[in-house]
Amino acid sequence: ELVVNARKPGAEIQPTMYGLFFEDINFGADGGLYAELVKNRSFEFPQSLMGWNSFGKVEVRNDGAPFERNPHYVRLNNAGHGHKHTGLENEGFRGIGVKKDATYRFSVWARSGSAAGQKIRIELIDANNDPFERKELAIDSKEWKKYEIVLISPKEEPKASLRIFLTSEGPVDLEHISLFPTDTWKGRENGLRKDLVEALNELNPGLFRFPGGCIVEGTDLETRYDWKKSVGPVENRPLNENRWHYTFAHRLFPDYFQTYGMGFYELFLLSEDMGAEPLPVVNVGLSCQYQNEGEHCHVPVGELQDYIQDALDLIEFANGSTSTTWGKVRAEMGHPEPFNLKFIGIGNEQWGPEYPARLEKFIEAIRAQYPEIKIIGSSGPQAEGEDFDYLWPEMKRLKVDLVDEHYYRSPEWFLKQAARYDSYDRKGPKVFAGEYACHPQNRKNNFESALCESAFMTGLERNADIVHMATYAPLLAHVDAWQWRPDLIWFDNLRCVRTPNYYVQKLYAHHAGTNVLPLTWNKKALTGQDGLYASAVIDTNKKEIIVKLSNVSEENKEIRISLEGLSRKMKIQPEAQAILLKGEADKENTLDNPDAIVPVDSSVSVNGTVLQTTAEAGSFNVYRIAYTD
Ligand code: AHR
Repeated sequence: ELVVNARKPGAEIQPTMYGLFFEDINFGADGGLYAELVKNRSFEFPQSLMGWNSFGKVEVRNDGAPFERNPHYVRLNNAGHGHKHTGLENEGFRGIGVKKDATYRFSVWARSGSAAGQKIRIELIDANNDPFERKELAIDSKEWKKYEIVLISPKEEPKASLRIFLTSEGPVDLEHISLFPTDTWKGRENGLRKDLVEALNELNPGLFRFPGGCIVEGTDLETRYDWKKSVGPVENRPLNENRWHYTFAHRLFPDYFQTYGMGFYELFLLSEDMGAEPLPVVNVGLSCQYQNEGEHCHVPVGELQDYIQDALDLIEFANGSTSTTWGKVRAEMGHPEPFNLKFIGIGNEQWGPEYPARLEKFIEAIRAQYPEIKIIGSSGPQAEGEDFDYLWPEMKRLKVDLVDEHYYRSPEWFLKQAARYDSYDRKGPKVFAGEYACHPQNRKNNFESALCESAFMTGLERNADIVHMATYAPLLAHVDAWQWRPDLIWFDNLRCVRTPNYYVQKLYAHHAGTNVLPLTWNKKALTGQDGLYASAVIDTNKKEIIVKLSNVSEENKEIRISLEGLSRKMKIQPEAQAILLKGEADKENTLDNPDAIVPVDSSVSVNGTVLQTTAEAGSFNVYRIAYTD
């Protein structure tokens, strides 16, 4: 018998409790959420034509380009014979996905080599080299100018290419060659992939952490994520190498770069669209722990001023009035109102004494100028066998507001850690479970991993007085270009699939409640006894008592949920909603079979104040018991 005591609603569930962590890993941004379909659009990859096939007389030049931070462009010269052509083909990000009857905005910065003007042809070609859409574009000026045309795809093609070639005498210069679906999220130019944002938005996130992860740190400090380079006109945002071009599994992705096309402005905007609190993370003067070699990895403590200024300027960019330097940049980009930033993360997953020594300097500066901003420190990565408390004393000493913990661990670990926060010190900083995922042996998003996460999350919910934020990681992965798994959402060039883990997150976020209620089994919290894990909340707005229950055992369990401590006014409704998530332990959702494991709704009767039901073997259940008062 599970007893839920409704006498006194307990700790508030923070609006930030269930959120998202976004990083450009697994082609999450370029090739993923960012809807640009052309790879290496500005010819700034170290091999200028990476991603492009060139034919005829193509020159890469860097004299007199229109955008100083992207100095390369191409010149298409006359091929020298009427039956020869000069041009380029772009392979996209593992192909270019186009949908039947959908429209695509092609744009290019160009200048003609002659006063008479030039012509280029733009084609979409399929995997058999057959063009299926073509348009001519006249380049009529000898000055750099932006040109646009709309392509309409007569068919669906997941792996098309974009071909551009000279059809006049030449020469013609081209820069920032871009192709976007017109149907982006909210129809924005330079927009985001709609189906992916819809999947994120559907999770009701209360928090949005970005842009990483290890990419905040960079392989070395040169390649750390530099937010200042990610704002302003998109054509002039410089290219940065992606730290995930090389992975722990020794998989190499030489074509993985960050265009910053989806930069901090777009990420703040996305937070706002989703109603999530933005949580940007800045570099603390240390590069990625896993690649910590050489002198370009640590900024001496006394030389951190530029890094600290970046953090202060970021707060100004988000919240400053339009008369401030960075507030003005935000306004010029189209958002004069502030983004109401409340949180900032300093450093990602740093370990060792070098981290607190640097963090301290950031804290002093931010507290002095922006005392209202909450600062998030990190407890470092957790290795097998470690217990994480190693950086906590330092975080307490420095009085950070929240500590970001990361754990990618086995199913057994996750089950055991359902009680993790029961004994945490209530007087210190709050907890942000900033990156977590259950890693089964095959590292797939199977139901077993989702079930263990559901059990673990009862512990987050029960401890909502101290756990204020939690975000699964990583969020997105391209099926043809991933560096890490499991991940919450998988996609190809046209489709995406929500994993069982996604549905666990969704069930928690959609049924978060407003306050914790004590739930006991034999007078104790239910943290794995008999294979069961449970938590309860009340939603005082919707007037519901919500119980979440994971049965990780191999047997069906008869369950009695008894409601106690109800006020006289509270009348329990005779029918409750039961939501069941269940599947075979090793089953996954795939692009071809996306709905293999999805939540299923039913109803269950409540007899007076008792709900009696069966929790099936290997299942996660949410019961919503409505009341009137
Ligand atoms: O989420 C993948 C990586 O895991 C993150 O970049 C990093 O913070 C952690 O090591």
